[in-house]
Amino acid sequence: MTANELRKLYVSYYKERGHKLAAATSLVPENDASVLYTTAGMQPLVPYLLEKEHPLGKRLVNVQRCVRTGDIEEVGDDYHLTVFEMLGNWSLGDYFKKEAITMSFEFLTEKLNIPVSSLAVTVYKGNDKVPYDAEATQTWLELGLSKEQIFYYGDDENWWGPAGETGPCGPDSEMFYVNDLPDCSEECGPACSCGKYVELGNNVFMAYNKDKDGNLTELKQKNVDVGLGFERLLILANNLQNVYETDLFVPLINKWKK
Ligand code: SER
Repeated sequence: MTANELRKLYVSYYKERGHKLAAATSLVPENDASVLYTTAGMQPLVPYLLEKEHPLGKRLVNVQRCVRTGDIEEVGDDYHLTVFEMLGNWSLGDYFKKEAITMSFEFLTEKLNIPVSSLAVTVYKGNDKVPYDAEATQTWLELGLSKEQIFYYGDDENWWGPAGETGPCGPDSEMFYVNDLPDCSEECGPACSCGKYVELGNNVFMAYNKDKDGNLTELKQKNVDVGLGFERLLILANNLQNVYETDLFVPLINKWKK
């Protein structure tokens, strides 16, 4: 599958499910002083996640170039890039957890043919203000994941907010590909960086707004923000080892070799 075919497959999958294609925006955000670069597909959507009406409606899909300075130290391994593309889809006050997780799961397992047995997911375990995400767990179990494939983490791993730290945020449920490797330790799991677990994407349930003092207020409009790692899915779809073997890089590398 070429990079272009994967972009098209993703966008058409969500269009068939009522999503409208939102244009990608500049890597340098406009009208957003909270970040230097666009760090996620949701970054340009912040006003709409905070209840402003989006001209394209309540279901969106897009493909967005992103930069994460926090990832720079990892660039050069099999999966991290300075600039990457995020496949994103959103519900702006429309469907919520069950539908979002189900669509993510079906895209990975039915469109990309990733075996269910090779997946692991994480679920928010709650804190003193926000409850454990029982609905996410229940949905993953109904979709056929076993209890052993579901891992529970707190605010460090399973809470997502934009890079500027204020704004729409909430508990999330991440999806991982499990490489056929032994556990590196007794604590080995999706939060571990030993290489066994490769993050494929994240379902964020944006039900809160965080202010500059760190206070959370519940949003009237409950949103879903899903982001998938485009290059990682391209590696898996083609049974490759690393991003440099994909058609994003092979033609360039071949030119340099000449
Ligand atoms: N914004 C979330 C993330 O970057 C999901 O798109 O993980």
